[in-house]
Amino acid sequence: MMYQGFLVLLFCALSVLSQQIVSDPGVFGPSIELVHLYNDEFPSGIAVSASGRKFTNYPSNLDPNNTKYNVAELTSYDTEMPYPNAEINTPPGGQINYTTGSPVGANNQNYFINVQSVVIDAMDRLWILDAGRPSTLSGSGTLSSHGGVKLIGIDLSTNTVFTTIIFPATVAYPDSNFNDVRFDLRPSITASGQGVAYITDSSTEGRNGIVIVDLGTSLSWRHLDNAPQVHAERQSVPFIWGEAVYSIAGYGLPITRVLYGADGADGITLSADGETLYWTAVGSRYLYSVPTALLRDNSPTSELLAQASIVSHSVIGISDGLETDSNGLVYTGNFEQNAINIFDPASGMTRVFVRDPRIGWTDAMFIATDGYVYFTENQLWRTPSHFPGTERRVRPFALFRAKLPDNGTKVQLL
Ligand SMILES: *[C@@H]1O[C@H](CO)[C@@H](O)[C@H](O)[C@H]1NC(C)=O
Ligand SMILES: *[C@@H]1O[C@H](CO)[C@@H](O)[C@H](O)[C@H]1NC(C)=O
Ligand SMILES: *[C@@H]1O[C@H](CO)[C@@H](O)[C@H](O)[C@H]1NC(C)=O
Repeated sequence: MMYQGFLVLLFCALSVLSQQIVSDPGVFGPSIELVHLYNDEFPSGIAVSASGRKFTNYPSNLDPNNTKYNVAELTSYDTEMPYPNAEINTPPGGQINYTTGSPVGANNQNYFINVQSVVIDAMDRLWILDAGRPSTLSGSGTLSSHGGVKLIGIDLSTNTVFTTIIFPATVAYPDSNFNDVRFDLRPSITASGQGVAYITDSSTEGRNGIVIVDLGTSLSWRHLDNAPQVHAERQSVPFIWGEAVYSIAGYGLPITRVLYGADGADGITLSADGETLYWTAVGSRYLYSVPTALLRDNSPTSELLAQASIVSHSVIGISDGLETDSNGLVYTGNFEQNAINIFDPASGMTRVFVRDPRIGWTDAMFIATDGYVYFTENQLWRTPSHFPGTERRVRPFALFRAKLPDNGTKVQLL
C-alpha cells in the first residue's frame, strides 16, 4: 500500500510538471509587415502617397544629430534621400542661431529647422510641420524664432513648395512645440473654401493647446489653451518593454515623472466625417475629443464653448500618433501592451487591433489608400532624455504596416 501510494504521488507530480501553464501569447491580430529599416537618422513621422511614395521626418529636437536632413523620401527598403532636395534641408548657418544671447531655432522661412510631422492630405499633397526648435548638440532645447515655425505644402508631382504658412507670435509662442497636424479640405467648412488644418501644441514647457489654420487665408488661432485635458496627467509613469519610463529634460537635469516634464496634446486625428477632433497627451492614458465646428469658430465666446464641449472617451492606453480609417475607427498607440488599439466611436469601446513584441513606442501612424496602416517604431524612450540618461537605442529603427479590418482605407475629406 505504501509503495502504491508513492507511485500515485509520483504520477501526480509528473503530470503537473508536464502540463503547459497558460501564458501570454505575445501576438494578436493581423501579422505586421516590415516595410523599411532606418539605419541613418532617427525617424519620427510617416506619410504614404496614393502611388505608394513614402516620406519620413527626423526631428532635431529629439536627436541633435538629425542635421543632414529633416525630411526624406524612402527610396528603397533601407535607403533615404533628402526631400524635396538637400538644400532646403540644410539652412545656411545651421538649424540653430548662436548669435543671440542663448541659442534659438533659426528664423529661416525657406528651410527646414526642426520638422515634427509629415502628412499627405486628401489631394495627395505633402505637408511639413516645422516646430522650429532644434536641440543643441549637448541636448538642451531651444526656443523658436518667428519664421522658423511653419506649415509647408509640397506638390508631389513637381516636388516643389506651393505654400508656406507662417504663424504669428500670438499663435506660435517661442516655447510652443507644434507636434502633429490633420487636414480637412471640405470647401463648405470655411468662407475661403480651401479647408483647415488642426495642430497640437505639445510645448515642453506646458503651454499646450490646439491651433487651427485656415488654409485659404493662412490665418491661424488657438483653442483649448491650458485646458486640463490638453495637459499630461500629473505624476504619470508609462511602462514600456518592462521598464518604467521617467523623463530627464536635459543632460544633468532632474528626473521627472511625466514624459518631457509637461508633455501635453500630441497625437491628433479627425473623425471620418471631419466633425470631431480627437487627441491624446503622451503623458496621459485618456482619449479626448471636441466638435471641430467649435474649433473653427474664432468669435469672442468660442473658447468658452470649445472648453465646455470637451469629451473624455476614457482610458485607451499611452499613445503618440493617432489615425482614423474610412470605417470611422480611431487607431491609437498602446505602448504598454506592445499594441495598437482601435477606439470605435460607434460603441465607445476600445479593443486591441494588433499586438507584437516588436511594437513599443509607435511614434506615428499613417493610413494609406492601399488599406494599410503604416507605423514607425523608434525606441524614443531609450534616448538619453529618459532615465537612466544614456543612449540605449539600437539601430535599425523600423517602419511596419498592418492591413486594416473590413476594407478600411484612407479618409478623404474633400
Ligand atoms: C551624436 O553623435 C555623436 C558622434 O557619433 C555621439 O557621440 C553622440 O552621442 C550622438 N548624440 C546623440 C544624442 O545621439
Ligand atoms: C539670428 O539672430 C539675429 C539676432 O536676433 C537675427 O538678426 C538673425 O536674423 C537671426 N538669424 C537666423 C538665421 O535666425
Ligand atoms: C471588402 O471588399 C470585398 C471585395 O470588394 C467584398 O467582397 C467584401 O464584402 C468587403 N467587406 C466588407 C466588410 O466591406
